[in-house]
Amino acid sequence: MIKVAIVGGTGYTGVELLRLLVLHPQVSLAAITSRALAGQPVAELFPSLRGHCDLAFCEPDLAQLATCDVVFFATPHGVAQAQVPELVARGVRVIDLSADFRLRDIATWERWYNQSHAAPELAAEAVYGLPEVNREQIAGARLVACPGCYPTAIQLGWIPLLERNLVEPGHLVASAASGATGAGRQGKTELLLAENSDSFRAYASGGHRHLPEIEQGLRRVQAAGSAEPRVTFVPHLLPMVRGIHATLFARLNGDSGLAELQELYEQRYAAEPFVDVLPPGSHPQTRSVRGSNMCRIALARPDDRDTVVVMSVIDNLAKGASAQAIQNMNIMFGLNEKLGLESPALLP
Ligand SMILES: NC(=O)c1ccc[n+]([C@@H]2O[C@H](COP(=O)([O-])OP(=O)(O)OC[C@H]3O[C@@H](n4cnc5c(N)ncnc54)[C@H](OP(=O)(O)O)[C@@H]3O)[C@@H](O)[C@H]2O)c1
Repeated sequence: MIKVAIVGGTGYTGVELLRLLVLHPQVSLAAITSRALAGQPVAELFPSLRGHCDLAFCEPDLAQLATCDVVFFATPHGVAQAQVPELVARGVRVIDLSADFRLRDIATWERWYNQSHAAPELAAEAVYGLPEVNREQIAGARLVACPGCYPTAIQLGWIPLLERNLVEPGHLVASAASGATGAGRQGKTELLLAENSDSFRAYASGGHRHLPEIEQGLRRVQAAGSAEPRVTFVPHLLPMVRGIHATLFARLNGDSGLAELQELYEQRYAAEPFVDVLPPGSHPQTRSVRGSNMCRIALARPDDRDTVVVMSVIDNLAKGASAQAIQNMNIMFGLNEKLGLESPALLP
């Protein structure tokens, strides 16, 4: 059994990790931390876990964490980078759900996150946890940086086109919308029901922290010799609990027809257990991935003009965070990648 700890067990990604890990056949949960609720039974805060988890929250204690095989960090950025170096030095493998180790360029990280980085040497070593691109490196990693939720939906949507240099990389446009759990569990006025329901709005249109991560990921996969990917990314807040819908626009370089593009996507993702390319003419819905690790993708080429539209949906807490983190754990420990992640989406 893999001995697992979660740092930050009271947030939305923390409880999603718990929901999936309590049924994982190869996992034994050893510690779930919360500084605010240390001592309180986990199932008291999350009654959904009654009968599944009899641990109480504990303080994050490095000595206890160091007895585990793997530690998940489901904490705000800035937390993991302070604690991970010692854990890794003591032979513990780490899967970080925060942004701490996602960016290679430390100056870029420090500019977007407005603080200095405490462990730049580990950021250089960390493996970006998008299995559809980095499966082999994830298998041997000591530290995996799980992708952000928007970056997961957007990169999976564009990878096949950029790998083949079929679109103009300098003019990529991503309009994406997320449910309210994307903002975490702490109280914020703009997330109150009365502020947020029956309404729809963009935010961070002048620049969102996921932009450098998206562009870094697309640079990794772009065809040799093609121009650097440049993305215009505008996120939106949807008055729902879970889910991301990304609508991606790109201008075609040549005259690839929709049928050809459809075949390209089907081939690129044929062996991927968690990417589903829908039949031509489909429109993916967030409810078709709710609670599951699946990304569903559909393509369109409106009126046969020169723009290809990719629609990509994920559950922000699942493929966008905790379930993808478990997919990474399965790969790191040589397990079947799908273990504990096979239940279909919750619909209706
Ligand atoms: N929500 C999403 O859809 C999503 C998707 C992908 C990635 N992420 C990333 O995943 C991380 C967690 O997100 P979330 O939405 O679950 O956050 P959250 O709801 O705000 O939860 C944060 C958790 O971290 C703990 N924590 C805060 N400061 C800490 C510290 N200094 N030391 C130890 N524990 C600390 C909190 O418990 P205590 O304060 O009681 O210790 C709490 O359990 C974030 O970095 C987020 O960007 C989130």
